[in-house]
Amino acid sequence: PLPPPFQVPLPLPAVLKPVSTSGGVDRYEITQREAVAEILPGVRTPLWTYEGTFPGPAIESRRGRPVTVTHRNELPVPTVVHLHGGRTPAASDGYPTDLVLPGHWHGDAVGDVTSGAMGHDTGHGGGMHDPRAAVTRLTRDYTFPLDQRATLLWYHDHRMDFTAPAIWRGLAGLHLVRDDAEDALGLPAGPRELPLMIADRAFDADGGLAYPALDPTLRQRPGVREPYLAGVLGDVILVNGAPWPVHEVDAARYRLRLLNASNARHYELEAVADGGRRLDLVQIGSDQGLLAAPVTHRLLPMAPAERYDVVIDFSGVPIGGRVRIVNRLGSGRTRDVMAFRVARRAPDGSRVPGTLCADLPAWRRSDAVRVRDFSFRAGRTHAGHGWVIGGLPFDPARADVTARLGDVEVWRLIADVHHPVHLHLVGFQVLSRGGRPPLPHDAGLKDTIALRPGEAAEIITRFDGYRGRYLFHCHNAEHEDMGMMANLEII
Ligand code: C2O
Ligand code: CU
Repeated sequence: PLPPPFQVPLPLPAVLKPVSTSGGVDRYEITQREAVAEILPGVRTPLWTYEGTFPGPAIESRRGRPVTVTHRNELPVPTVVHLHGGRTPAASDGYPTDLVLPGHWHGDAVGDVTSGAMGHDTGHGGGMHDPRAAVTRLTRDYTFPLDQRATLLWYHDHRMDFTAPAIWRGLAGLHLVRDDAEDALGLPAGPRELPLMIADRAFDADGGLAYPALDPTLRQRPGVREPYLAGVLGDVILVNGAPWPVHEVDAARYRLRLLNASNARHYELEAVADGGRRLDLVQIGSDQGLLAAPVTHRLLPMAPAERYDVVIDFSGVPIGGRVRIVNRLGSGRTRDVMAFRVARRAPDGSRVPGTLCADLPAWRRSDAVRVRDFSFRAGRTHAGHGWVIGGLPFDPARADVTARLGDVEVWRLIADVHHPVHLHLVGFQVLSRGGRPPLPHDAGLKDTIALRPGEAAEIITRFDGYRGRYLFHCHNAEHEDMGMMANLEII
């Protein structure tokens, strides 16, 4: 019994209040626990949540003001928290074996989840090889300096081999970073700034979230059943946890903070008014913050984990009219995403300046001290079929890349099928795709690049921030769990 589209009101994630702001640090506490939510009207859906909701509560921070989040795990399995897009010291980056163990997890079961865990000193105090540490690790403090440009980050589970089903069950939330430079621009704000987490899900007959895990307990055996190796798709499109929602707006400019939090689904979004007229989607920001100048799209592709910061102007839409956000890659019900209903005229003092950000890094090929090549392909893993980088499935004990702090490098990435490739710690620029200049939506500083089938792309970055062991991986979450991840060691 799926609801008709554009009936359920768009929920806006609650903004989490700090438990303390003293000493120049915002301190938060999040309990990870099971909850039941009414996602489809009249249907009870069990979830794994941050603080009882899906999405989890949003955190809002200022650039350079450190944040500590204490996560407490009351779920039946170990978890790991990663702040996606955060420039975070390795110890708080949510390495896949740096577990927050659940309260009722017994020491003798720890070995089940730690096979292959690394034992050397890379800044990860995971308690992995120390059963005493493991059994007491019910909470973990994550420290985020947030010394980075304003942007939309998101936090999600990142446990070794089990990230995809954990996110699917609800372990994802938003984290906005603000700064003075962005505030000075006069962009649409307050109720005219809307965070939109888009994620598809499937439901079983009992109202639970349907996921084809080989091991539904998510304790020991990773991976999905054979027909789902390419990734798990749902037939219900959720925005901020609601199916095909509708939101009432003024006839004015709105800033949409888009995140594709889907495990595997790609979108090509367009905004279609009644009568078929398409509205411009004026992109002002990318994964890692504002662009140098706005880029106008009619069609905006969005791969898993990508964020797009977009301004849409409803002032030309007749009052009472509707603007649908449509996914051109969908079919049937997955074509619809959400809708806006233009309810009233209202003054609009917002603007979209022609120059948004003047201090974006501009790395040049000639700055690069190294060029590396990586292929992202289907391949064999210890579990059988899976996904590999440079022919190898993920192994936490192997340093795949060792890069020097401060070095600029060019990476050439080539894919067999779609792979949204994500680097932890750094933002990068897209230099080329298929030997051509980047696409319009590649503008700005990215942390995830949507590689297209058969395509080679080049990215350039500088390994700034912190030393330690980080990751790069495909953000098709099923690919990630089935081997497509590698270590990035910054020395
Ligand atoms: Cu969004 Cu390594 O993750
Ligand atoms: Cu992939």
